[in-house]
Amino acid sequence: MGELVVGIDIGTTKVCTIVGEVRETDTYILGVGIEPSHGMKKGMVVDVNALGAAISSSVHKAERSSGYEIGRAFVSVAGGHVESINSTGAVGVSNTRGVQLGDLERAMDAARAVTLPHGREVLHVIPRNYSLDGQSGLRSPLGMLGFRLEVEAHIITAQSSSIQNLARCVEASNVYVDRFILNPLASGDVVLTDEEREAGVMVVDIGGGTTDLAIFIDGSVWHTAVIAVGGHHVTNDIAHGLHLPFELAEAVKLEFGHAYPKSVSELEAFPIQPFGEELPSKVQRRDLARIIHARVEELFELILKEAKRSGYDGLLKAGIVLTGGSSALPGIRSVAADVLKMPVRVAHPENITGMSDALKNPAYSTSVGLLKLGLIMDVEDDRRQSLHNGGKARARRNWWDLLGGALGRLLPGEEDEV
Ligand SMILES: Nc1ncnc2c1ncn2[C@@H]1O[C@H](COP(=O)(O)OP(=O)(O)OP(=O)(O)O)[C@@H](O)[C@H]1O
Ligand SMILES: [Mg+2]
Repeated sequence: MGELVVGIDIGTTKVCTIVGEVRETDTYILGVGIEPSHGMKKGMVVDVNALGAAISSSVHKAERSSGYEIGRAFVSVAGGHVESINSTGAVGVSNTRGVQLGDLERAMDAARAVTLPHGREVLHVIPRNYSLDGQSGLRSPLGMLGFRLEVEAHIITAQSSSIQNLARCVEASNVYVDRFILNPLASGDVVLTDEEREAGVMVVDIGGGTTDLAIFIDGSVWHTAVIAVGGHHVTNDIAHGLHLPFELAEAVKLEFGHAYPKSVSELEAFPIQPFGEELPSKVQRRDLARIIHARVEELFELILKEAKRSGYDGLLKAGIVLTGGSSALPGIRSVAADVLKMPVRVAHPENITGMSDALKNPAYSTSVGLLKLGLIMDVEDDRRQSLHNGGKARARRNWWDLLGGALGRLLPGEEDEV
């Protein structure tokens, strides 16, 4: 049996709560609660009450479908307030016993000791690579002999107030936030292969309000960024271009949308009912594709700019992996390949079992990733804690604790709706 975990992905479009069990090779889904999101804009909370209510509905749905009461969860974060920097930490080590875990930890503490501007906090500190006495590129120098150990770390920070607002919204449902996890780290964990991460790859999660990206090289995270453009902007452009209300434009996008005009026949057309017109009119699907193409092309240009800004654009041998709800847009692969000139594939969560049919869609990569990555980070924390406590491990939480303890499994039939 694996360990039971809960993830809540709070997006601009939907809130998705998953109760699952992480096993060695797959994730078993026990319950899911997907609800439309309200009160989020471009990945930031703009209405605490509306978002709190959406989270509460999603959590209750997941509780009903899994039969467990949720007490704590890993929660996703994105938004323009997230920033990342790289930092180095160096420590002296004893040359007689080789590098120990405690030395790695001290080096990480030194890297972590950056001065943050007021109102910001650290979300993640991820080791990129180690060097020992100037020999760089070491994945793990454990047991190696040397005097000076250096770690290069990737530090992801967020605006404290944004994080606190998000925590408030989750806690309103009596769910404790175990840990916040940056969106593209969670989705990357699910859709990337080890080979891609080694070779150099960029995961791009295109959602409704944001596009979240992370660059993995040599097996670890080297760069992360959040771009405040997503599928909502595409829908807005359609609404403007075809004079339609937003909801109708969204429906048109989902049914007829295509991002690559060249792949759409000139003969294809569909009826719409624009504002102020009495009779429906016909729109050529290729014209719709032109509207979508312009925005999607601009988005990939922003992504390319970000890759260049990171300085790692030349190291992405495995190219780019698209995920997130908007990656389901037909033709998006071709636009990405045209702009970025590198291999592109679109991915969704795989290796999931149980109540998982709805989750095999690129919109749920972050949600599924929260479970796996949350657990990995927890194990890391335990190890660190145990080092600081002189070898005594922090008490591991059990499933009872994770899921709220007091009630545990609800009796079947206690709730009417599943
Ligand atoms: N088949 C499809 N074709 C085109 N767009 C789609 C399709 N399915 C979903 N989308 C778009 O995906 C977006 C939602 O994606 P997703 O569920 O990943 O967003 P989110 O996680 O809620 O938002 P964010 O991560 O930006 O905060 C919407 O803009 C929606 O229109
Ligand atoms: Mg998302």
